[in-house]
Amino acid sequence: MSDEDVQLEARLEEQEVFEPSASFAEQANLTDEGIYEEFEENWPECWEGAADLLDWEEDYDQVLDDSNPPFYEWFTDGTLNASANCLDRHLAERGDEAAIEWVGEPVEEDNITYTYEELHQKVNEFAAGLREMGVGEGDVVTMYMPMIPQLPIAMLACARIGAPHSVVFAGFSADALATRMNSADSEYLVTCDGYYRRGDPLDHLDKANEGLSGVDHEVERAIVAERLMDGDGFDHDYADNQVAFEDIIADNEGATVEPVDRDAEDMLFLMYTSGTTGKPKGVKHSTGGYLAWAAWTSQAVLDIKPEDTYFCSADIGWITGHSYIVYGPLALGTTTMMYEGTPDYPDKDRLWDIVEEYEADQLYTAPTAIRAFMKWGKEYPEQHDLSSLRLLGTVGEPINPRAWKWYYKHIGGEECPVVDTWWQTETGGMMITTLPGVKDMKPGSAGPPLPGNDVRIVDTEGEEVQPGRAGYLTVNKPWPGMLRTLYKNDERFIDEYWAEYSDTDSDDPDDWVYFPEDGAKIDEDGYITVLGRVDDVINVSGHRLGTMEIESAIVGVEGVAEAAVVGGDHDIKGEAVYAYVITEDGYEETEELRSAIIEGVEDAIGPIARPEAVIFTPELPKTRSGKIMRRLLEDIANGEELGDTSTLRNPEVVSDIATKVQGD
Ligand code: WTA
Repeated sequence: MSDEDVQLEARLEEQEVFEPSASFAEQANLTDEGIYEEFEENWPECWEGAADLLDWEEDYDQVLDDSNPPFYEWFTDGTLNASANCLDRHLAERGDEAAIEWVGEPVEEDNITYTYEELHQKVNEFAAGLREMGVGEGDVVTMYMPMIPQLPIAMLACARIGAPHSVVFAGFSADALATRMNSADSEYLVTCDGYYRRGDPLDHLDKANEGLSGVDHEVERAIVAERLMDGDGFDHDYADNQVAFEDIIADNEGATVEPVDRDAEDMLFLMYTSGTTGKPKGVKHSTGGYLAWAAWTSQAVLDIKPEDTYFCSADIGWITGHSYIVYGPLALGTTTMMYEGTPDYPDKDRLWDIVEEYEADQLYTAPTAIRAFMKWGKEYPEQHDLSSLRLLGTVGEPINPRAWKWYYKHIGGEECPVVDTWWQTETGGMMITTLPGVKDMKPGSAGPPLPGNDVRIVDTEGEEVQPGRAGYLTVNKPWPGMLRTLYKNDERFIDEYWAEYSDTDSDDPDDWVYFPEDGAKIDEDGYITVLGRVDDVINVSGHRLGTMEIESAIVGVEGVAEAAVVGGDHDIKGEAVYAYVITEDGYEETEELRSAIIEGVEDAIGPIARPEAVIFTPELPKTRSGKIMRRLLEDIANGEELGDTSTLRNPEVVSDIATKVQGD
């Protein structure tokens, strides 16, 4: 490095506030800081602007019906169709423009462009096929697919006929698929034969079939997209109720399906996510409010314009892909990218190669990826022309200022604003982040709540804490993109998200406060730093996992008596799974058992939940009332100074465990 470079680095290192560049601010979709005040004064009518981004069949009568909190209704009595909003209405002006640019992992394979016209056609054909096989309005269709074009085609086809989809991340296990299909009483599955990962073909249908065998009701039909090139070595015989995706498309060539009018409050999709208990929660999203939220935030925060090529590297199997690969960008009529593979195949510059080739305007990714890019080194992005980028985004976990600055400098060339967006599966879309053309950025802090959002940081009593102090994040006003309930479980919906800070007997919406289970602090100027989950959820590489789910998988392994799982710090992943395990009498603490435990977790959830370390221990540290002291186990995992152990029933066990962890 030259002296000048060293000086520049040092300057960047110290800088705490970054202004959006003039060139970005001039062209931004939102440029008026007055929007914050305007939305506050004009709430909830301010959200008409979000609804106006959509085409409605029937106009709504009321922006917000808050007569029955927390069951809020947005854009009441309006009707619309999400598929028509993402496709049909763009045909006249943008029919020949790319809707999806799909990039497969194998480099030798041709990429595929779907214009709006072509995507519209495929969606219609698939929708016709679904109808023909009996899928009706309200039937939940499960999708268990990787990043292949048939996934958004199937999602939009479902939306077209009013059948909610429930997408299960392809990296989840067969068991996880079965649990979700059972919970949603879903009788239809769309899956695929396999896909490519780091150069190898992966068998996916085998796993899907194993999942299907665990479904407790009859499955009408399983549709299999044939993604592998000539089967790529896997021979699959289809069962009687299985049919190829491509056959459905071919059988319905040229078909059109009138988009079904859906009530604004009708369910667009279900998405299962982890919570405090072992059972995943089916988060229910609406058609009108959700789509308006996805579209509005895509426009306001990601600065998406129809002529952009926008690249989000998330997986559609998570909420980020739903809102910010499929629904938001397509509602705005832009070009959205889909990349099948990993960022390090065939080399660690794959994303930069894609950005350069497609001249991407935005990149939206996760801190865990940014930390990996940093570790791999700046020489990878430096080999490519990234000057097409106008904006960078991050989501999924807190981003440390060093990673933020690296992203800003080496990917954004100090020209692109970075939006650090806090939100959750449940919120449907972004909640806390800077408006990129308006607000300064502070690395490490997500920023102020979006206009029209009332976010407060409170103590356990619900009182607002002083700036700079840690507290709990709460949302004090409803918003259009919010989850409507947990599928068929209103009671759990109230318990999980509202009970903590609301007066649940009241029907005054002011008495209802949403609790996302995150800790946070707020600065004097209203910028919020999110500190992480305060419940039993851990965040591994931006993937949300329930410690209880992992524990129940571990105690299911023969020879395990008890287990406690915590998140330990990890340089790249953010958090990693640490499993403390007590063996049953008569079982040895062997390497075999350790492998069986790891396998058990992979079978029950998937490789993303694989424990970083399995620590055998004769006892777990417990309070006198018998509760496991997780905080201590976390401190041990992180090699930290151990605090007060005097409230333990068995303090002597702590140093034993610590010695073991250090020894590993
Ligand atoms: C965490 C992903 C800090 C948070 C969209 C939240 C974040 C959980 C951020 C939701 C961020 C998400 N800064 N933490 N910018 N974004 N989180 O449901 O703990 O998979 O509760 O949704 O991720 O994860 P989920």
